[in-house]
Amino acid sequence: MTDIVDRKVGELVAEDFRRARVFKNHDIDFCCGGGISLKEACRRKGVDLEPLVDSLIRASRESGKSVPQVNSWQPSFLADYIENVHHTFVREHIPAIRAFSQKVAKVHGHAGPELLEIRDRFECLATDMESHMAFEEETLFPAIRSGADDVLGLLETAEREHEEAGDLMKELRKLTSHFTPPDWACNTYKALFVSLAEFETDLHIHVHLENNVLFQKARALTTS
Ligand SMILES: [Fe+2]
Ligand SMILES: [Fe+2]
Repeated sequence: MTDIVDRKVGELVAEDFRRARVFKNHDIDFCCGGGISLKEACRRKGVDLEPLVDSLIRASRESGKSVPQVNSWQPSFLADYIENVHHTFVREHIPAIRAFSQKVAKVHGHAGPELLEIRDRFECLATDMESHMAFEEETLFPAIRSGADDVLGLLETAEREHEEAGDLMKELRKLTSHFTPPDWACNTYKALFVSLAEFETDLHIHVHLENNVLFQKARALTTS
């Protein structure tokens, strides 16, 4: 068996989702950036390898919570799950975050120009996600469910769009100082930052399930 430090971050999370929390705590990307080894991810982030490996082992020993065994799910079931859970989450959260970001930019934008940027970046992300999810629901997922031969190009398109959404999310994290509002923030300001943090958490799981689980299964089916 390959040593854990040489295995890919995305693959480690696909194997046991409890590891996602450990990577998140160290700000290590396990979805779009999950294609690199654990050793390389630690080097890039300046994280000590040994304590991180210990945390990953401890996370996998945690019990009490049932962990969905996503790796054993059929592609069509996974696609349904992603649509029902994550696409629904995105669609349900966009209107409130859009409203919060517009209000906060309008009321406090003169004191904090980054609030205008946050509003605009979120709008880009929301628009991109709406068309990206429509592409998955209408084109990519039906192709995966039917085992179509021309799925590889579609997977690449989706992965490219994931990178773009991930970059916008990273910009939002930076613009919000890791979703930390200032002491004087009003309730709408705080609600915006909390909602953006939740949106990021969901997006990471969503993209991880697609890039590292569903798309890998779809690729394996085309080559088998
Ligand atoms: Fe999706
Ligand atoms: Fe996607």
